[in-house]
Amino acid sequence: FHVKLNASDIEKGPYPHYMLKEIDEQPIVIRKVISKYQDAAGDLIMDSEIRDCMKKADRIYIIACGTSYHAGLAGKQLIEQIADIPVETHIASEFLYNRPILSPKPFFIFISQSGETADIRGVLVAIKQMGYSSLTITNVPGSTLSREATHTLLTHAGPEIAVASTKAYTAQIAVLAILAFDSARAKGIQLNVNPAHELSIAANAMEIMINHKEVMEEIVWQYLNDSHNCFFIGRGVDYYACLEGALKLKEISYIQAEGFPGGELKHGTIALIEEGTPVIALLTQAHVRANIRSNVQEVKARGAHVCMISIEGIEEKEDHVILPAVYEWLTPLVSVIPFQLIAYYAALYRGCDIDKPRNLAKSVTVE
Ligand code: G6P
Repeated sequence: FHVKLNASDIEKGPYPHYMLKEIDEQPIVIRKVISKYQDAAGDLIMDSEIRDCMKKADRIYIIACGTSYHAGLAGKQLIEQIADIPVETHIASEFLYNRPILSPKPFFIFISQSGETADIRGVLVAIKQMGYSSLTITNVPGSTLSREATHTLLTHAGPEIAVASTKAYTAQIAVLAILAFDSARAKGIQLNVNPAHELSIAANAMEIMINHKEVMEEIVWQYLNDSHNCFFIGRGVDYYACLEGALKLKEISYIQAEGFPGGELKHGTIALIEEGTPVIALLTQAHVRANIRSNVQEVKARGAHVCMISIEGIEEKEDHVILPAVYEWLTPLVSVIPFQLIAYYAALYRGCDIDKPRNLAKSVTVE
């Protein structure tokens, strides 16, 4: 199997690091995903066999690891909220040895940038033996998980060289969104938005954030200069984005970081907040606005140094980063940009090996 690569895809060009190049490529990748799944009329559509699998399923099981698992959590929100199908997102290595009770008509979605992750393959082999069909969402055509699953959807992000995943994550979420919109339509759910248009708006919003890198650089100076730890708090889809923000920071800057549901802090973790502890709070969902604002007050009262990231429409003037407004379930595409850049600058100032962090591999083919 041959994969055609353009030289420009695998060269850094003027960029000091692949990670920065790949962060910058994200709006273009999302536009490419839109064009790859568009029909002649401009509508986003899925392969009819995949549509049937989604329509017949009484529950979707998303299986993944690392950053792809976090994309799977965003996918759970998208598929449940837009297509009204119950979804469970599982860490592959957990699912394999602690399998939940499956619903009568499950459909399995494997998400993997590389398409080679051994933990996921273990689950794929197990569910195939049980006779279930599956879908792999991957960046690598012809990869093991793509060949072995019943169906494949490609993320079209181009080669991702930096070990810390960026553009593969947002491309995975875009594909999951298209799958959710398509499934909704197949079930006769009235969509009051145009999916291609909403995804384009998200790509533009990502570009706006990328064009304001200096804001995130300043945040790193102000909040993370000599810290050894950092908390990311949010609720719902923002909590899932916080898990990814914390993972990015850990992976490349080695700052201990934790993504946490805002409401759960008081049940233990708030004991760790002391004078100067950095807390990054994310708020993109109007219905939890008062809750997150009050969580911020709770940690501030204990001395936390809070950086507030909110979204147009529910922002307050003292917030540090204000994301452009996008369709409510597509916010992870945009909120992750400041997180990726914060991790990048934190690692840069610490002199870390950004593209090849210690102890990590791009693709993990052993269990
Ligand atoms: C490795 C990488 C992570 C990645 C995970 C899953 O641990 O370091 O960045 O998220 O594998 O990889 P996959 O290729 O399955 O998405």
